[in-house]
Amino acid sequence: MGGPVLAPGDIVSDSSDQYSASHDKHFFDTFMLVIGGLVFFAFCLYILARVIASNTQEQYVLNDPTFTHAEDERIKPVQLLAVSGRDNAAVEAATPAPAAPAAPPAVMTGEAVYNMACVACHGMGIGGAPIFANKAAWAPRIAQGLATLKDHALKGYQGKAGLMPAKGGRVDLADESILNAVDYMVNAGK
Ligand code: HEC
Repeated sequence: MGGPVLAPGDIVSDSSDQYSASHDKHFFDTFMLVIGGLVFFAFCLYILARVIASNTQEQYVLNDPTFTHAEDERIKPVQLLAVSGRDNAAVEAATPAPAAPAAPPAVMTGEAVYNMACVACHGMGIGGAPIFANKAAWAPRIAQGLATLKDHALKGYQGKAGLMPAKGGRVDLADESILNAVDYMVNAGK
């Protein structure tokens, strides 16, 4: 006798159990509070990020012409079809204007042309080409007269030594540039 009087339904536990139960509850409450605080903090960060983004992202990126242009490029129709009897202004607008005629090639100095287009053969005498600044090689050439040399350089010719391609293969260069190169080579070979 003398022990606690138990009513039906009472949970029997000793005092240390009671202590650990209240300790667990305390831990759980604190834990949930911390978790809740972190969730709330994360949510605040999200809202803050959205606010900042709406003030920067939209202004600097979404309105950036390169961005909007790239977007327009991606979503533009692959092909536009002109239909007779309809408004085809969009097709005409999408058709690129014919490219402006290529500007005539700029005239270059003889030295620049030589280094760009002629040195490959005339530097070392490849394929029988008269070697640059080699007087013996150039004397008989110069004897033909400058007009012949220029004509051969422009139009190309098949000689005894080998084939001189028209304009040294650089038909994109201006005639004047090639003639400058001939002058440059002839002067060096005198
Ligand atoms: C693919 C090689 C090659 C290139 C590049 C080349 N030449 Fe020649 N060229 C030759 C050869 C080979 C000859 C000699 C042909 C022959 O007399 O048989 C020659 C000859 C010439 C002659 C002498 C023509 C004559 O009547 O004797 C001139 C001038 C000349 N080249 C100018 C040029 C100029 C200017 C360039 C650069 C724009 C050039 N060449 C680029 C191969 C070349």
